[in-house]
Amino acid sequence: MQERRLTPLDRLLAGINDALSTVAVPANRAAREYPAADIDDVELDARAKAHAAGLIRVNHAGEIAAQGLYQGHAAVARDEEVSAQMRQSAAEEFDHLAWCEQRLAELDDKPSKLNTLWYAGSFAIGAASGLFGDKWSLGFIRETERQVCEHLSSHLQGLPDEDARSRAIVAQMREEEQEHGEKAEAAGAAELPRPVKDLMRLTAKLMTGSAYRL
Ligand SMILES: [Fe+2]
Ligand SMILES: [Fe+2]
Repeated sequence: MQERRLTPLDRLLAGINDALSTVAVPANRAAREYPAADIDDVELDARAKAHAAGLIRVNHAGEIAAQGLYQGHAAVARDEEVSAQMRQSAAEEFDHLAWCEQRLAELDDKPSKLNTLWYAGSFAIGAASGLFGDKWSLGFIRETERQVCEHLSSHLQGLPDEDARSRAIVAQMREEEQEHGEKAEAAGAAELPRPVKDLMRLTAKLMTGSAYRL
């Protein structure tokens, strides 16, 4: 049977559908096991708990942005294989989103109030970079994952020592973000120009700074 080719409009509509389900539907439906499932939850003091929740909220906002980026790229990717690969990565990122959401609830806290904004902005950036061609959108993904890994490493240092549950989640995410970056590299990612990387860092700083608080 011949597979139906998606028109750009089909993909855009699929992207909007993904957008609505990402920000509107609770993400407590990870396909894989919760990395903290076998780890005891210890009672953190108020300050440590608020700090851990702030960092997990930043990661949750980052995962919302990852959904936007991947789905934005997939909406405009020219190569069907690249498009399918991006949807696959977005599906894996969905577990990260669900895990962060679960951990935030365990810490009696809530996701960022600005999630719709993170999603919409990332979707637009993802689609825009994809319009330059697949090697650039792959380059964008590789650089994003590289920067995300740096963030996650700093979170592993900054999380309270006793918060083993959050640590287990962040450690597994870091491992998988690294794999996503390597996958994009293997698929032919171009090296982004320095000013673009700097701009990405600046945007990430703005996002992480506000998501920690709001
Ligand atoms: Fe992720
Ligand atoms: Fe990733």
